[in-house]
Amino acid sequence: MVLFSQPIKPDKSKTKRWKKIDLEKAKQSCVNYYDAAHQDYHDQYHDELSVKPYDKEFLTRFSTLIGKDAKVLDIGCSSSAQQAQFFRDTGFQTTSIDLSEKCIATAKASFKGIHFLQMDMLAMNFESDTFDAVNAFYSIIHIPDEKIEGLFIDLNRILKPNGKLAIAVHAGNYSGFFEENGMSVFYQTYTKDKLKYLIDKFGFRILEIQERQPIYDFEFQTVRIYLMAEKIKTFEPNKISF
Ligand SMILES: C[S@@+](CC[C@H](N)C(=O)[O-])C[C@H]1O[C@@H](n2cnc3c(N)ncnc32)[C@H](O)[C@@H]1O
Repeated sequence: MVLFSQPIKPDKSKTKRWKKIDLEKAKQSCVNYYDAAHQDYHDQYHDELSVKPYDKEFLTRFSTLIGKDAKVLDIGCSSSAQQAQFFRDTGFQTTSIDLSEKCIATAKASFKGIHFLQMDMLAMNFESDTFDAVNAFYSIIHIPDEKIEGLFIDLNRILKPNGKLAIAVHAGNYSGFFEENGMSVFYQTYTKDKLKYLIDKFGFRILEIQERQPIYDFEFQTVRIYLMAEKIKTFEPNKISF
């Protein structure tokens, strides 16, 4: 797919450019995969930030952009809740959501001072302008392209004016199912251009975007993209003209 090799100007002919995926199958694959992995995921990753200084420094820079006592939402926290713990420890009122009931139950039993909710990021029922910041580390990788624009519209909606957004993803051009131990989970990788397109189109501006190489030998060996953005206007779907 070469669709994102150039910055994209929205026009009518491009509105159907996303790859078609069986949405229910993709969603169910995530539930099954993370429900099955909840204990291992917790054990392996709950303290991962202590051995990933790059990620910790990124989150530290991000947190300096957010005011004291801020309300932070972490989406796709899993059972490790590693970024949610960081936000709690930094003094923010932290809410974390995940699609997997088992991940949420394990996180809830393990970490105090974080408000955990089982919730689909594609069906968030938060009021508009609720959060000062939203974090999504390695969770939008599970959202099919057909749904990704709707997610960015909703992120814009739930963030307060000038609210901040942090995203981490695996870099690349893949979209499909990953097979492991007899299980299959939908995921996709992102290019910088694709992220920039989503950020620009839905009322944000980029504050920082970086690619990092797989510098830690214990992690999945992929290039990653880290992005910080700010909501600069309320996205009004009716006002967009193609
Ligand atoms: C790779 S894990 C990332 C966990 C954590 N943020 C980290 O960096 O270690 C992805 C998480 O996203 C969750 N997820 C996938 N699709 C989701 C959805 N539609 N709504 C909420 N969470 C979702 C999965 O259940 C899983 O726990």
